[in-house]
Amino acid sequence: MKIQWYPGHMTKAKRAMEADIKLVDLVIELVDARVPASSRNPDIDRLAQNKARLILLNKSDLADEKVNRQWEEWFAQKGILAVRLNAKSGTGMKTVQNAIQEACKEKTERDRRRGILNRPVRAMVVGIPNVGKSTFINSLARKAAAKTGNKPGVTKGNQWIRLNKNVELLDTPGILWPRFEDETTGVRLALIGSVNDEILDLRELAAEGIRFLQKWYPGVLKERYGAEEENSPYEILQEIAKVRNCLQKGGEPDTGKAIRLFLDDLRNGRLGGISLERPQEEMGAQ
Ligand code: G4P
Repeated sequence: MKIQWYPGHMTKAKRAMEADIKLVDLVIELVDARVPASSRNPDIDRLAQNKARLILLNKSDLADEKVNRQWEEWFAQKGILAVRLNAKSGTGMKTVQNAIQEACKEKTERDRRRGILNRPVRAMVVGIPNVGKSTFINSLARKAAAKTGNKPGVTKGNQWIRLNKNVELLDTPGILWPRFEDETTGVRLALIGSVNDEILDLRELAAEGIRFLQKWYPGVLKERYGAEEENSPYEILQEIAKVRNCLQKGGEPDTGKAIRLFLDDLRNGRLGGISLERPQEEMGAQ
């Protein structure tokens, strides 16, 4: 399935992000825990060179807990601290706060050796659209002591949220552009709902989703829909239509409706925690 996606409107966001990143010491990169590789933009490694780094595997509640831990280990092996998070409920926020301190340690130490004391570490959140950046910033801001900077009448500048005496966070996230150069990445982003459904062949997408579940999560389709798992994806969609009463006027199964229902279930965790990619694949050992 070919996904057409023109990143033209990203140019402005990209420029803003590149300017902001120069101001910070720590880059907090949010990825979607279900697709930690596909929801990253590899350019960030270049853009965030020489910065302290922290990766948050957000929406971990929708992913497979076992695979979440594998990703944490995989990033750790690459020397990047990665922590799983559910920014929506706040689960994992305490660990994240500690990880922010941990990621800043080196910088604070370096400052101290140079005689710079009490200069807070400046951090920003980056990530592709829909990974939960705003949710995460809001959750941190609610707990934050105070807002700093940008007083009325003063030239418009960046707004910083003081998280504690050591850390200030830029209150607007840096938006990264998703990469669609390979088909698999595009399909995975579409399966988590990060691509506008209007430009997709939803029938083919649902079929991809079903094939994936048949391979990696056997039993899930049977359990949720009573489907015969050895059937073809299109037969399974018919089964879903019947069991969920998606019927056309004449009583024929309405597969269009079943497709939307299935994708909605998959995207919202109603089939359980599903991880669409694993570190082994990244390492070429699928
Ligand atoms: P962005 O700034 O990176 O674009 O993402 P944003 O915070 O707007 O979050 C995108 C959607 O993801 C929101 O749902 C948000 O509630 C949801 N979300 C963020 N973090 C998590 C998480 O850890 N777990 C889960 N399950 N969802 C998360 P929405 O559909 O736009 O709104 P709503 O359904 O919350 O009202």
